[in-house]
Amino acid sequence: MSPTGTGASDPDRWVHLAEIDSTNGEAMRLALSGAAGPLWVFADKQTSGRGRSGRLWVSPPGNLYASLLTSTDAPVAKAGQLSLVAGVATIDAIRKAGPLASGDRLRLKWPNDVLVGAAKVGGILVESSLRAHEKGFVVVIGIGLNLASTPLELGHAATCLAAHGLALSPREALCFLSQEMDAWLKTWNGGDGFAAVREAWLERAGPVGEPLRVLANKGPVEGRFVGLDAEGALMIADREGREQQFTYGDVSLTSVPRIGETQEEDERL
Ligand code: BTN
Repeated sequence: MSPTGTGASDPDRWVHLAEIDSTNGEAMRLALSGAAGPLWVFADKQTSGRGRSGRLWVSPPGNLYASLLTSTDAPVAKAGQLSLVAGVATIDAIRKAGPLASGDRLRLKWPNDVLVGAAKVGGILVESSLRAHEKGFVVVIGIGLNLASTPLELGHAATCLAAHGLALSPREALCFLSQEMDAWLKTWNGGDGFAAVREAWLERAGPVGEPLRVLANKGPVEGRFVGLDAEGALMIADREGREQQFTYGDVSLTSVPRIGETQEEDERL
């Protein structure tokens, strides 16, 4: 990855497919077959779109399914920061595309959900692979954005931009997104500029003190949002007031009742 961004906002660096299993999968296959990137792979529909934690990302035509293949000299431990970079870029791309008619705020939820109010409108899946004989890693940053429709999702509220008065085609959305990704990857600069990304992410996230539930390896933890540490880990204060950090986990907003929620239900979003 060049320190001045990916340069992949040029449509010559876009691979458009009518249908694919997963744009993340295709981007990684291209990398394994020698494609150097940076390039965007985007598809009209996905037959096996991948969400976080092995979930399916339902992918009918009309929404954006796009994956950026690129590489960086940064240590692979920094790969998670790219979720935050992509979240900031996605919010800025939507803002540049136009205003939302509703008063609901466009915002981020750690690590990589894009929300309108409390409803999910987009998700990000970062997958990386170490480079042979070279430092750094190859990374695929996959972004799904509900533009025209809201596929049914289990366990949490969802929406699409059209429902908020913003009509965009996938190609138009990718024009905005690729430019913002270029700009924010340039700011990130292999991790050296993460402080600015972190600050931007916090400006676009929910308020400090927001009630959250985190499901990670140690089981569900209820608490309040405190912030992000210097590397991008989530910090919450648990019910006893102890600060806890998470580098992985599914987070739900506990101020918002979840669709069909019962005590016994799977805690994942
Ligand atoms: C999430 O679970 O919130 C992440 C969803 C990521 C979906 C996008 S759609 C484009 C890219 N290709 C995939 O298979 N997944 C990502």
